[in-house]
Amino acid sequence: MSGLRFTVNGDDVEVAAAPATRLSSVLRDDLGLTGTKIGCDAGDCGACTVLLDGDQVCACLTPIAQVAGRRVTTVEGLSENGELSALQAAFHRHGAAQCGICSPGMLMAAQSLLAGNSTPSETEVMDALGGVLCRCTGYRKIIEAVMDVGTLEPERAPPPGAAVGARMAKVDGVAKLTGAELFGADGAPEDALYLRVIRSPHARARFTIGELAGELDGDLALLTCADIPGVNVFGIYPTGKDQPVLAEGAVRFRGEAVAALVGERAAIEAFRHEDLPIDWQPLDPVIGTEAAKADGAPLVQDGKPGNLLIEGLVVKGDVEAGLKAADFIAEGAFETGFVEHAYIEPEAGWAHRVGDRMEIAVSTQTPYMDRDSVAHVLGIGNEQVRIMPTACGGGFGGKLDVAVQPLIAVAAWLLDRPVACVYSRPESMASTTKRHPSRISARAGCDKTGRLTVFTSHGDFDTGAYASWGPTVADRVPIHATGPYFVPHVRNSSAAIHTNGPPAGAFRGFGVPQCAIAHEALYDELAGMAAMDPLEFRIVNAIAVGQETATGQRLDASAGLGQCLEALRPAWRAARSEAEAFNLTSDDVKRGVGVGCMWYGCGNTSMSNPSIMRVGIDRSGRLTLYNGVADMGQGPNTIMPQICADALGVAVETFHYVTGDTDLTADAGKSSASRQTFVSGKAAELAGADLRAKILRLANGGDDAVIEIGDGLIIVRDGELERRIDLAAMEPDEHGDILSGEGTFDPPTTTLDDKGQGTPYATYGFAAQIAEVEVDMELGTVKVRRMVAAHDVGRAINPTQVEGQIHGGIAQGLGMALMEEYVPGRSENLHDYLIPTIGDVPPIETILIEDPEPLGPYGAKGIGEPALVPTAPAIFGAIHHATGVRVRVAPATPARLRAAILARKT
Ligand code: FES
Repeated sequence: MSGLRFTVNGDDVEVAAAPATRLSSVLRDDLGLTGTKIGCDAGDCGACTVLLDGDQVCACLTPIAQVAGRRVTTVEGLSENGELSALQAAFHRHGAAQCGICSPGMLMAAQSLLAGNSTPSETEVMDALGGVLCRCTGYRKIIEAVMDVGTLEPERAPPPGAAVGARMAKVDGVAKLTGAELFGADGAPEDALYLRVIRSPHARARFTIGELAGELDGDLALLTCADIPGVNVFGIYPTGKDQPVLAEGAVRFRGEAVAALVGERAAIEAFRHEDLPIDWQPLDPVIGTEAAKADGAPLVQDGKPGNLLIEGLVVKGDVEAGLKAADFIAEGAFETGFVEHAYIEPEAGWAHRVGDRMEIAVSTQTPYMDRDSVAHVLGIGNEQVRIMPTACGGGFGGKLDVAVQPLIAVAAWLLDRPVACVYSRPESMASTTKRHPSRISARAGCDKTGRLTVFTSHGDFDTGAYASWGPTVADRVPIHATGPYFVPHVRNSSAAIHTNGPPAGAFRGFGVPQCAIAHEALYDELAGMAAMDPLEFRIVNAIAVGQETATGQRLDASAGLGQCLEALRPAWRAARSEAEAFNLTSDDVKRGVGVGCMWYGCGNTSMSNPSIMRVGIDRSGRLTLYNGVADMGQGPNTIMPQICADALGVAVETFHYVTGDTDLTADAGKSSASRQTFVSGKAAELAGADLRAKILRLANGGDDAVIEIGDGLIIVRDGELERRIDLAAMEPDEHGDILSGEGTFDPPTTTLDDKGQGTPYATYGFAAQIAEVEVDMELGTVKVRRMVAAHDVGRAINPTQVEGQIHGGIAQGLGMALMEEYVPGRSENLHDYLIPTIGDVPPIETILIEDPEPLGPYGAKGIGEPALVPTAPAIFGAIHHATGVRVRVAPATPARLRAAILARKT
């Protein structure tokens, strides 16, 4: 250890650290500059990018010895006199930060570029930022921001009543862009112990942990299943919880937790796994649904015969009659693999026992479910647990299941010390949920005019070792499997099957993206058989208001697929002809254009999923929105006040915020199923309207009266009349508020009968996307050249954020289509598991269709999942147009596509 001197953000510093210590560790742990983020600690993600003498470097790969005498600049050094720099301001205005975990790295890479080139081209921006991964934004708004530095007009806050529809910058955007935002790994107390999980290297094994007395350093505690104070199990559904916090003598997937070491951070990091006396007895694992269904297959879990978790079914009409009425039949089988969420922030948080209560700060999508899970594991009441969400560096469904939460809770409860845990990248990838692999066989028929007459399908979904969200996938798939079209005769079934794979859970779409690949491929084939243009075929069949879905639900409003397709028609025709003209001139490289459509039920399937929002005014006139929605970057921290402000009739910048704390906010449900804008947004609207009604009642004001809130007063102006409400003269409630409004919304749904008939969702999002691709016929590589996306969102509460969701969804859909396939033990890092980089995501044109949903806040419905679903089908349609090859196994890697091209030639 020696004293090393260098400058950070212009200040001289001296640190004592071993020469090989990572610069990232020194910045974060010694200097407290947690704006530099750690996504992988391996130089793959670039989140830790800082400037060293003006050049970008990965701080995680830079030994501190190389920094001596040099200049380091971090994100904390970008702001000038407390003001955002021009670059940061451009990111803010363009919505270039969603979750914000990559933003410091992106900013530093951009800063380095702009220092030598103030007007970079798009290619130069892409080259300069190419080492930093973003999983949320699809990169396009980042590129726009870097090319727009210094040319922006100052932002104008929307006036009262005009927040909905405004392109407002994120209310939490500044903190994300200055490094001030605290994520799960950023704010653990200084005296916290650290926890490290011991995990199984085997997919299926029995094990015993030997006698440890004297084996461990005295500073370390070892926790096993015997130490769990409550019930050693967690899971999503109240019945059917099946995953142990720490395995009990048997493991069912590679990466499963078997024990936890707790101690001082240095001791934890220095401990070698192999020093633990664990006796493993590996068993043959059950890999894939075919093996799991085979006669005599070992049972992954006792009591689940045939390894079947659950089945789903939807039957409408008479399939035989539908087949008879069909002039053309298309059928096929389709496969997809595990897909990893790859959020740039690995799971992290810390727990702290306060008397007989447990407080947990954690990166999460679902604070209330976390609360209840932790209470169950600790054996205490739900109200004895407080979840205080940190900023969440991406989730996409993967942070709906608990990860560090029960582990740090048990350790902190037993040791009565704060305990923190930060998953490593390989640990995050090995141990957390994935998108369900699928094997879908489907058949579709249409008549001579192209009208669909029938659709049947069955999908087996590999739900891995534990249930997680498998039941949700099994429910959603048969409902959505026909796609967003009117089909009179339907039979769709599904099965979630256990294997010794990682638990498959929620990932942006709950099985719907997998079935969209199947139905869109078959509809392309039917269009060909009926000699129809693929887009026109879809227009003929697009489900419309007044028609019934596969579950017999009549759509009463907001079914905008037809409008989406009509909006795409000019771009479609132009792109198809251009591609066909190009192909006449090129043999080695072929171009193609495809279309993909989707629909998606917003909210939980056939079950209550209420949201409660509250807004209050305290004695000083401070207006607070108590918002229990977890924001993982998708924007509810901004959307909710936009809605509430208009309902209340005040300027949106009037609000203060309390977000996500289970002690301080009401339950707004999970950030999943594209439900928050629709469900919590409606609750926010109702809360604002409730408070407005109370104020107007007190002031005897009319409906059009203008409300002003400030300095201990509420002023109500109604025409010539002005009335004042003196807040100081009134008694506060238990939250300290003098006046408050509350809104509750639970979308109206029904349970489904034994044929899957009923109303599973109150509303649906619709979309159609066009993909233009270029295929290298020799290499099998695919370059997506452009995407055009038309989405019916009901009402765009914040168009910038809606576009950001569409861009990000397209990037993830592109990854699913072309490169992403998680293989346990082989792709547990971000250099073997590829996600789209800035160079992979093409220009994206978005078209927002606003077919209002009467139940939604100002007509709005969800966009999170709809953004991803149509992308892979559109790309696969484009590949077929270019090559004649129908992709049946995703991802369409170069090896797979080249083999298919060669097979077609022979
Ligand atoms: Fe880039 Fe979330 S905003 S990873």
